[in-house]
Amino acid sequence: VDAAYDLRIERLNKVEGDPETLIEFNWRVIGREHLLNGTIVNHVDFDDTFEIVASVEAFMNGEWKPLAINGRFGICAFFDSLYPKYFLSSFKDSNMPKSRGTCPFKKGEYYMRNIYMQTENWAAYARMGRNKMKFIIMKNNITYGGFIGVAILKDRTF
Ligand SMILES: *[C@@H]1O[C@H](CO)[C@@H](O)[C@H](O)[C@H]1NC(C)=O
Ligand SMILES: *[C@@H]1O[C@H](CO)[C@@H](O)[C@H](O)[C@H]1NC(C)=O
Repeated sequence: VDAAYDLRIERLNKVEGDPETLIEFNWRVIGREHLLNGTIVNHVDFDDTFEIVASVEAFMNGEWKPLAINGRFGICAFFDSLYPKYFLSSFKDSNMPKSRGTCPFKKGEYYMRNIYMQTENWAAYARMGRNKMKFIIMKNNITYGGFIGVAILKDRTF
């Protein structure tokens, strides 16, 4: 992989919905390269009434500090702009949507095998070192699922 940055996923934890889980991120980190593997299971169609609430924290001086990259995006807005720009190129062996503007994100099971997260496009938003990314799927501020990932971002030039 030819990139300026190296992203190593340390762990991924599923966030359950409360009171119910409508989307499940069944991901594992596998192999020496810490690739992402598993499925996303949608129990309903996710239209623009659902939002993705995203936030990033960086580990600095012994504590987690929020970075100014928090955002809320309707599902359709996410698939129209952020998904094609930052995620689509990583999902090579996957049945995730292949084109921009996919909406709703349909009920069903989506697999992703041995995914190396391409970081070139979004490394600028994170800090070198340990980052914690939270992705929560909400509607009317009620949590329906999500994940928390911790990853280490390293500069490749050494
Ligand atoms: C990776 O995920 C795919 C799709 O869910 C699954 O078939 C495969 O067994 C997984 N591989 C490992 C090593 O967990
Ligand atoms: C959801 O929470 C955000 C942030 O706490 C708040 O600004 C917003 O008004 C809330 N929206 C609803 C529909 O309760």
